[in-house]
Amino acid sequence: MSEQAASTANNKEILRIDDLAVSYGHIEAVKGINLSLKQGEITALVGANGAGKSTALLAISGLVKASRGKVLFNGEDLIQWSPHRIVAGGVVQVAEGRATLTTLTIEENLALGAYTRKDKAGVARDLEWVYSLFPVLKQRASGLAGNLSGGEQQMLAIGRALMAQPKVLLLDEPSMGLAPLIIQEIFRIVQEINKTGMTVLLVEQNVRQALRIAQRGYVLETGKIVLEDSGANLLHNPKVVEAYLGG
Ligand SMILES: Nc1ncnc2c1ncn2[C@@H]1O[C@H](COP(=O)(O)OP(=O)(O)OP(=O)(O)O)[C@@H](O)[C@H]1O
Ligand SMILES: [Mg+2]
Repeated sequence: MSEQAASTANNKEILRIDDLAVSYGHIEAVKGINLSLKQGEITALVGANGAGKSTALLAISGLVKASRGKVLFNGEDLIQWSPHRIVAGGVVQVAEGRATLTTLTIEENLALGAYTRKDKAGVARDLEWVYSLFPVLKQRASGLAGNLSGGEQQMLAIGRALMAQPKVLLLDEPSMGLAPLIIQEIFRIVQEINKTGMTVLLVEQNVRQALRIAQRGYVLETGKIVLEDSGANLLHNPKVVEAYLGG
């Protein structure tokens, strides 16, 4: 067994989705999916436009209501929890499209991320950590978020989520709309965050990059999981190559 496979086998499950389904009116966007996140790993959830990736994340965060199924976080079902309690419990989402508060400063955006926390020293330490991950945010701390570039706003959105002290970080297409060099930088930082032991669920349409850094991956097509394997195996799976990697 390779070192990575060995560490995967030993890692305990931190979050498990059981038969999760979500409908918008008559349209069932997520059709009963199962997914398991191992502690300290990056898990990729990949798929095309409209596959249901964001809907799945929103259901985990409590922002859309599941029509059936469970989201078990350390054994507790989050389905009945409020979005606020889910964040305070350590499951924190970075929304698609960045969604920073553009009329607030960078510092203020980061402070908002920590709004559920009472541990001042921990918040100060995490602020320094976020600034070390994203030096540009420190340089521009008192500037308005609205003046940041797209890549910098994505960094701020990730930084704000980190200020909530996640145990599980949910990232919805962090590379969307960014230039190739910035995309490299974002994926590198996701790996760096993961190296601190943080569990990451990475939703992406950038299938190649996501599978490269993920220990495990799931492929979602029209609301159903059609493939599940290690990131490395999925990268070489002929079905994935043909449908998502331009093979
Ligand atoms: N608020 C909504 N009301 C009605 N239908 C919705 C809503 N949000 C999403 N849908 C539909 O649900 C399906 C899944 O959408 P979702 O946004 O979860 O996909 P996605 O995989 O995140 O796509 P993308 O990669 O484009 O972000 C799509 O058919 C979409 O049109
Ligand atoms: Mg989406």
